[in-house]
Amino acid sequence: MFTRSERYYDAIYSGKDYAAEAAHLKKLIAEHKRLDGNSLLDVACGTGGHVPYLSDDFAYEGLDLDPEMLALSRKRFPDVIFHQGDMVDFTLGRQFDIVTCLFSSIAYTRTEERLRQAVANMAGHLRPDGLLLIGSFLTPQEWIPGHPHAMFVDQPELKLARMNVSGMEGNVAILDFHYLVATPEGIEYFTEHHELGLFTPEQYLAAFTAAGLEVLRDSEWLGGRGMYIGVRGSAR
Ligand SMILES: C[S@@+](CC[C@H](N)C(=O)[O-])C[C@H]1O[C@@H](n2cnc3c(N)ncnc32)[C@H](O)[C@@H]1O
Repeated sequence: MFTRSERYYDAIYSGKDYAAEAAHLKKLIAEHKRLDGNSLLDVACGTGGHVPYLSDDFAYEGLDLDPEMLALSRKRFPDVIFHQGDMVDFTLGRQFDIVTCLFSSIAYTRTEERLRQAVANMAGHLRPDGLLLIGSFLTPQEWIPGHPHAMFVDQPELKLARMNVSGMEGNVAILDFHYLVATPEGIEYFTEHHELGLFTPEQYLAAFTAAGLEVLRDSEWLGGRGMYIGVRGSAR
């Protein structure tokens, strides 16, 4: 988890094209939605990068586990409602027309049991005929362990290097990030441990089906990572 790097998240992912992702998401929603309502809950919303591109079309609310991510989102978008909760067991006592979980955040569930709990919990926050869209992470076959990775931020008041060598334990991807960060306040070094479940398409599909959803996969999402699109069983 981003337990120490939250304040650098937007700089690290400044190359991420939130506008294009939101455009793709809107196309998928338009294709598959059965309800006229436009309430949308974005689970694992992070710093709210999708907010500017979704809040015109949808009554957007965000949810994340990390209080610091939420503090950044609330500061950036004071008019938007953000909830704190774990995707596995949050309870808002309300249902939405659309629930999303983007940028492979679902993989933080780590185990298939927790994947199923999270999908069922998000499905439980959908109105009948509502739409669940979950962007998946890599499969065990796609993950390459023992590969060095580095990324750099070079801004006038922020220089940052983040490096890791990809690890794997069973079907869990291990990312031990090492950060070296220079700001006007000085230089700091810290590490951060991330564990991400490497689920197969069959595991994602089975989690949706077990949650009572009709499901299909959009293979174009995020350079082929794929998006699972589920419709909650109709009350008709
Ligand atoms: C890669 S970031 C994605 C953030 C945002 N959706 C985006 O596209 O920039 C993953 C997010 O998942 C959140 N997260 C991880 N585990 C979670 C959980 N169990 N429940 C809710 N959020 C979680 C993290 O705090 C982080 O904000």
